[in-house]
Amino acid sequence: MPPIKIFDTTLRDGEQSPGVNLNKQEKLEIAKQLERWGVDRMEAGFPASSKGDFEAVKEIAKTIKSTSVTGLARTVKSDIDTAWEALKYAEEPRLHLFLATSPIHMTYKLKQTPEQVMDNAVSMVSYAREKFPQVEWSAEDASRSDLTFLTQIIEKVIDAGATVINLPDTVGYTTPAEYGEMFRYIRENVSNIDQVELSCHCHNDLGLAVANSIAAVENGVTQVEGTINGIGERAGNASLEEVAVALRVRSDYYEYSTGLKLDETKRTSDLIAKLTGMYVQANKAIVGRNAFQHEAGIHQDGVLKNKETYEIMTPEMVGVKVNTLFLGKHSGRHAFKDRVTELGIELSEEKLKEAFEMFKQLTDRKKEVTDDDLYTILMEIQTDTAAVNKYNLEMFQVQYGTANIPTATVSLTTPDGKTVQTAQTGQGSVEALYKTLDALIEEDLQLTDYQLNSVGRGKDALAESHVQLIVGGETMNGRGTAQDVLQASVNAFLNAVNRYMIQQYTSKEEQAVNK
Ligand code: KIV
Ligand code: ZN
Repeated sequence: MPPIKIFDTTLRDGEQSPGVNLNKQEKLEIAKQLERWGVDRMEAGFPASSKGDFEAVKEIAKTIKSTSVTGLARTVKSDIDTAWEALKYAEEPRLHLFLATSPIHMTYKLKQTPEQVMDNAVSMVSYAREKFPQVEWSAEDASRSDLTFLTQIIEKVIDAGATVINLPDTVGYTTPAEYGEMFRYIRENVSNIDQVELSCHCHNDLGLAVANSIAAVENGVTQVEGTINGIGERAGNASLEEVAVALRVRSDYYEYSTGLKLDETKRTSDLIAKLTGMYVQANKAIVGRNAFQHEAGIHQDGVLKNKETYEIMTPEMVGVKVNTLFLGKHSGRHAFKDRVTELGIELSEEKLKEAFEMFKQLTDRKKEVTDDDLYTILMEIQTDTAAVNKYNLEMFQVQYGTANIPTATVSLTTPDGKTVQTAQTGQGSVEALYKTLDALIEEDLQLTDYQLNSVGRGKDALAESHVQLIVGGETMNGRGTAQDVLQASVNAFLNAVNRYMIQQYTSKEEQAVNK
């Protein structure tokens, strides 16, 4: 079966989703999971866009071994140089250069003639090839570009040394037949097209990103770009797990294969959802909570008689496990460590000890500890950077009743070691708590989003809260998990504030190093 390369851009296009704000450690965790999932290429960021992105791309380039790491750059020398500084450590450094080719982008955004765009693309691809062994060139807004111009510029860019040509549907405007036809036309009319790989990159504004990507594959594309859970700018990108599983389940029809380890799919999706705070809808294909549930009696009856009556794939194929008890009150440190390793999480001895303590506390209150619970605890510990002075919760108490005004009392230790305490009222328990926290925390705060979910099902399920705060002018996300919804809410709030403290500390450290 002809192989299809999977190019993951969760850390670049995905991170452009409104409100998503990942730190270096979280990006690294995602990169390691993408490598386990088996993606061929990962776009780790846009190194010239910020110091934080540069550092994250560099760290990922140094760590990841079996996936080619790439970074995005505009067709500007300084972007290419910066990208090289971050990516030169990679096993197979790759650059992704983009320049718009549609009339509307060239006229209004770039304010350049087609000739200027052509010269710029050619000279920057050839400059990039002096450093990078692999250079992908993207014709931004290709699907709204003039086909004759596209043919000419692609031919020249290939002569200049591009190794991959990507034709994005940047605004999610195209349809499967139209997008497939564009690739067929390019393959038939660009004389040197056989020297490069052809790639597709689809946005989901009309809900067609996956269908468009598959149409591109049917028309000779050998690389599919997208993100996990389809996250990304506006309505997002093509959902890579949907593309990959569609090709596998319908291999009788499509006859293409990817190198993905599909049974790592659910774990990859869960990690991205937890770290970005963008939870997937219950009925999302492949990874949604209901994707393998059968509710209707007729369906349940059919599945009991023969699974294939209503199931076109098994949950195991994509790594969805039935949540069974795996560890409990009497499980020892050794069994715990083995399970952590099986989940693919690497922890230092110190963090492992901390995780074991949390697990033990959980087993006091929760009879059945599932993989989901454990994974939630581990992710919280894994991405918590210690060493920085933070706000720590000493205690909180909430008075709530239908006949009185909700009142919260909170006591915290501040980053400079003082203990502070106060009380506030609110319309509800969470508001009272958040107002109290706000009164105790020195930084300027504004709550912009609050979510509460349960991890798994059952009355003793863990609560997981996700908040977005503007702290000192910066948008910060925070996560918190606990048995109790109010405790989870407080943890998430403090997590967002402490992430800001860590960010401030890290940027001061970086400035000191660069002096
Ligand atoms: O959607 C798009 O056109 C992009 C480019 C940067 C490739 O993301
Ligand atoms: Zn894009």
